[in-house]
Amino acid sequence: MNTEALFESLIDGILETGYGVVDSFLAPNEVVALRNRLQKRQAAGQFREAGIGRAADQSGQAAVEKAIRGDEILWLDVATVTPEESAFLERIDQFIGYVNRTCYLGLRDSELHYARYPAGTFYKRHLDRFRSDSRRRLSVVCYLNDNWQPTDGGQLAVYLPQPDGSEQTTLIEPVGGRLVCFDSGLLEHEVLPASRDRLSITGWLRTD
Ligand code: OGA
Ligand code: MN
Repeated sequence: MNTEALFESLIDGILETGYGVVDSFLAPNEVVALRNRLQKRQAAGQFREAGIGRAADQSGQAAVEKAIRGDEILWLDVATVTPEESAFLERIDQFIGYVNRTCYLGLRDSELHYARYPAGTFYKRHLDRFRSDSRRRLSVVCYLNDNWQPTDGGQLAVYLPQPDGSEQTTLIEPVGGRLVCFDSGLLEHEVLPASRDRLSITGWLRTD
């Protein structure tokens, strides 16, 4: 699939089912490069335990609450970006441009972080936008795992309200190179515990 077809498939998924998934948002060599970079940065002590609540964005120190969320994160920073990271940011910017041209969402920028869920950790069911003044419009999660197996756990569970009032749960495996995208204010979701470290870049495309 070419880049525009990937983008279109993400948008179609969001409009039709509430979330979009594409499997080769990153090529295998790009996954390896970003995973290596994540691991170097982690070994250098750059990661921090993630927080929850309204300061859980780039701006502030949110409360760490391991019973809700156990990942460690590192915000991508244009000031310290490496070539593989800058290629990723470039692809996200292209996606923002595509969404703005085709859906008029008025996306302005993005905030993205590496995330590492150590074995046994999880992120309980939540929404990514919890206050009306949040700029977060679309959530993106791009997985960096090598050879992820269903028995490794760590699925992204998405909860989809049905027209009859019931709810459908879909599980998405965090397979390397796969990107998931959804409306930050609408889709409730959860990260199930994994039996090995689970790696990703997660972020938000923001309006003004
Ligand atoms: C998050 C989140 C999903 C995932 O960081 O807010 O829900 O699959 N991540 O990592
Ligand atoms: Mn989330």
